[in-house]
Amino acid sequence: MPSYLFDSAAAQAADRFSALESCYDAASRRALELTGLTSGWRCLEVGGGSGSLGDWLGERVGPEGEVTVTELEPRWAVSRARPKHVRLLRHDIARDPLPGKNYDLIHARLVLLHLPERLEVLPRLAASLQPGGWLVLEEFDCSWTPVLACEDEAAAELFGRVHTVLMGLLEKAGADPLWGRRVLGAMAAVGLTDLTATTFAEAWRGGNTEIALHRHNIDQVDDQLVAAGVASGELDAFRTLLQHPGFIVNSYPLISARGRRRHARGKGKPR
Ligand SMILES: C[S@@+](CC[C@H](N)C(=O)[O-])C[C@H]1O[C@@H](n2cnc3c(N)ncnc32)[C@H](O)[C@@H]1O
Repeated sequence: MPSYLFDSAAAQAADRFSALESCYDAASRRALELTGLTSGWRCLEVGGGSGSLGDWLGERVGPEGEVTVTELEPRWAVSRARPKHVRLLRHDIARDPLPGKNYDLIHARLVLLHLPERLEVLPRLAASLQPGGWLVLEEFDCSWTPVLACEDEAAAELFGRVHTVLMGLLEKAGADPLWGRRVLGAMAAVGLTDLTATTFAEAWRGGNTEIALHRHNIDQVDDQLVAAGVASGELDAFRTLLQHPGFIVNSYPLISARGRRRHARGKGKPR
């Protein structure tokens, strides 16, 4: 059976999580605020990684609310101190029953993209919302990472080549690198309403913190990249390129898709 390519138990996972946090948490917080998130809400954060967004949700809902953060491999989130109303659970969203129901908000960032079972998981998430509750799924469209500036055409080709092989590995593991462009349609197909999406992308310059996400990704699967045909010298050149200030590449666009469970007929307007 295909499995998650970037093993969260591996030592490099900590660097990947902190890169995701610094690149995308601000955009995710903005997308979550658009639901009207407020004190007292019951929230589920699926595949919470380092736990940074789960903790932020905990601050927003306060002790009158509650947040459950699930994670296949909770070892990175476990070290953060958190208040009692934020709980962390080892949980497999593809196989285990959901830990609760009637949520005001369910959020998952870059989790369903990786799951071969994404289309079975999605209706289970939708059914676990209370009427009027929000599902926010944030996913990449990995196809749009153009090189925006580069002093050397061969270097830009190298970036494209290594990145394409990485995408092939993801697909082989059951991920859908284009899920970001499909997620809103999939949410419509399970009956969610008030659908809308915002997309965040920015330019990543060589040597800066954000572009390091590419390095952490390839460091974690470098043996698989070599087995798939990338020469180890190309990987070294790729790492060097990511340090070059003349190299600028578009970030992965993060599509933040929002939808809510329909209100029962005659039960009044959405909040
Ligand atoms: C790309 S990371 C994203 C982490 C976090 N959501 C973020 O955006 O920073 C994908 C996360 O999904 C988790 N994951 C993968 N398969 C899972 C599953 N079946 N159930 C729960 N979590 C899963 C991984 O352990 C990993 O933490």
